[in-house]
Amino acid sequence: MKATLQKLLLLAPLLFLYGCGQGEVSFADDIQPIVENSCISCHSGKGEGAMASDYLMTDYNSIMKGTVHGTVVVPGSRMSSSLYLVVAGKTAPEIRMPPHNDESFAQGRGVMLSAETIELIGLWIDQGAKNN
Ligand code: HEC
Repeated sequence: MKATLQKLLLLAPLLFLYGCGQGEVSFADDIQPIVENSCISCHSGKGEGAMASDYLMTDYNSIMKGTVHGTVVVPGSRMSSSLYLVVAGKTAPEIRMPPHNDESFAQGRGVMLSAETIELIGLWIDQGAKNN
């Protein structure tokens, strides 16, 4: 009993650090599933996002390559990355992603990502937008 308590007391600071640390966001485990659920239907093949902006999100390289107008991910800076700005609702309503309001090209077909998901994308970019 006493030994168990001691072990718990030793573990507590470690667990605390783990829980509070921002941890590294993983492209494969965190970002790719978001893209597959919410973006890929339009940003692949003949999807309307792929057609309208030439933006494919089928894998890491295409996500990083960006649109005809240039890159949309600036590693290290979410505020310079249009990929973040369009999901965080910091752009004109017509280009918010996924398109989710009346003014958008694809009227109301997308649901805005949750605050946690948007934050995850922001963190991933701030941490260098790695292919990890
Ligand atoms: C319902 C279809 C649809 C879905 C779902 C969708 N997009 Fe788009 N996306 C578009 C269209 C259409 C455009 C072109 C908008 C325009 O330029 O008018 C676009 C353009 C973009 C652009 C380029 C914006 C720019 O700088 O011109 C980015 C970045 C983008 N989408 C990211 C995303 C992300 C990230 C997701 C998932 C969270 C997503 N999209 C989901 C249809 C979609």
